[in-house]
Amino acid sequence: MSPAGSGLLETAFTRQLGIEVPIICGAMYPCTNPELVAAVSEAGGIGIIQPISLTYVYRHDFRAGVRHMRGLTSKPIGMNVLIEKSSKSYHEKMTRWLDIALEEGVRFIITSLGKPDWVVKRVHAAGGLVYHDVTERKWAEKGIDGGVDGLIAVNNRAGGHAGTLSAQELYATLAGYKLPLICAGGIGSEPDFVAALRMGYAGVQMGTRFIATRECGASEAYKRAIVAAQEQDIVLSERITGVPVSVIATPTVVRRLGLKAGFLARWLLRGRRTKHLMRTLYTLRSLWQLKRASLDSSGDNDYWQAGKSVAGIHAIEPAGEIIRRYAAAARQA
Ligand SMILES: Cc1cc2nc3c(=O)[nH]c(=O)nc-3n(C[C@H](O)[C@H](O)[C@H](O)COP(=O)(O)O)c2cc1C
Repeated sequence: MSPAGSGLLETAFTRQLGIEVPIICGAMYPCTNPELVAAVSEAGGIGIIQPISLTYVYRHDFRAGVRHMRGLTSKPIGMNVLIEKSSKSYHEKMTRWLDIALEEGVRFIITSLGKPDWVVKRVHAAGGLVYHDVTERKWAEKGIDGGVDGLIAVNNRAGGHAGTLSAQELYATLAGYKLPLICAGGIGSEPDFVAALRMGYAGVQMGTRFIATRECGASEAYKRAIVAAQEQDIVLSERITGVPVSVIATPTVVRRLGLKAGFLARWLLRGRRTKHLMRTLYTLRSLWQLKRASLDSSGDNDYWQAGKSVAGIHAIEPAGEIIRRYAAAARQA
């Protein structure tokens, strides 16, 4: 039985995690800062640590950063583990961060890319849960083979690396696995949230909506651009990481950089030997470019990631206020 008045809010996901509102503030490089993670968790959703953002953009020692967040809220927080085994030093660092997070009491991990089996092993041993980001059936099967507890279905409206399928198509493709499914992408208003829960999703993961919050450390210029943007202003650019990423079509993106990777880069990205090197170069460059753009208050560095959920975002608000409004809408639905 649902507690009185919880309506659509009590789901397999909220029961597994012991949280009140099925809203995840998705990990965002370079936008996730400790105050945002803590504010979302404190309001009853769950905030997700992005370890590179925490250490490289916001300059926290990893363990001290996690402790800082745990000092801001006593409620559960999660962490994003981006699985990338092609670089040994990156893999070692991510493993160390995961171990520290578990030592510090983090019990919810979201894996992206690759095979999450080694993460699941560690997290289950500590009594935690792992959800895996997927854009299609093939990746879901890798996650399920690895033993994950839930799937995050990243659709074609998402910010960051968007999928290719709609929320409905992904639900139809993945519901048969009988794991809790989270809808990621395109949720920017209360009706979007309620519609995802009605569709059968056990929760939503929102990114773009939480950039336009008081707690997010991104510049005011970036936040205002999200509020001002319309759905048609969101375009895919290969210039950041070599694979398409959703960005706001600002003058820099459209005129100066263009949307396609250059011919040489594309050729190198396809080559069996050169593709890892190319990806590493892209990654290093993009980490720096995105960090600079997100913190620059002049607005001149307008290389800003955002998804189509900008359509429903009309103000910069406290993160907790957004959670409370969305929860109220779902209770009344
Ligand atoms: C600026 C930005 C950065 C992101 N960085 C990451 C990341 O580092 N790791 C990750 O797994 N997902 C990342 N994402 C995806 C989000 O966690 C989330 O799935 C997505 O934003 C949902 O779509 P929405 O923006 O329409 O709400 C990012 C999204 C945005 C907008």
